[in-house]
Amino acid sequence: MGISIVLLKFIHYFSIFLAGGLGVGGAIVQASHLKAKEAPSRPTLTAIKVLALISLIAIALLWLSGLSLAYLRYGTILLGTFFFIKLFGAGLILIGATLSNLIIIRSGKLGTKPNPVIMKRMVYLSRIGLILAIGAVAIGFGG
Ligand code: HEM
Repeated sequence: MGISIVLLKFIHYFSIFLAGGLGVGGAIVQASHLKAKEAPSRPTLTAIKVLALISLIAIALLWLSGLSLAYLRYGTILLGTFFFIKLFGAGLILIGATLSNLIIIRSGKLGTKPNPVIMKRMVYLSRIGLILAIGAVAIGFGG
């Protein structure tokens, strides 16, 4: 196995860890504010912004390393049904993370706080994507 494959796999697994951890952390911060019916303070908003941005970078790295692995090892991304389900799940996560960042940026510009109901929907979207992606890897492993 070439060094570039090992490196790409390392990046792939590291970005799964990073995106997963930040996703859980962000969701817990959101849920505790929703439960307390309190809007996040300014420093918490800044932290949420950083969490969301690093998650998006991690997911972008996941896609970049995954696509590179697929082409380097197999020369295609058409790697079967389970791989397709995994990509579909990872696509939902990418959409969730991108929209979360756009919502946070827009509310920052407008000087308002991000709508907690819409943010919660983004968490659900990413969660469904994560279940699909991990489920597909677990069942059809190798893809
Ligand atoms: C949340 C999303 C993702 C998760 C949880 C995930 C997880 C994994 C895991 C656990 C493996 C190792 C499986 C094995 O070698 O048997 C793997 C390998 C791989 N992943 Fe992902 N992945 C995700 C997203 C992606 C994306 C977006 C792509 C883009 C094409 C991708 C492409 C690949 C490829 C090509 C391999 C195979 C490497 C090899 O055969 O050595 N993955 N992934």
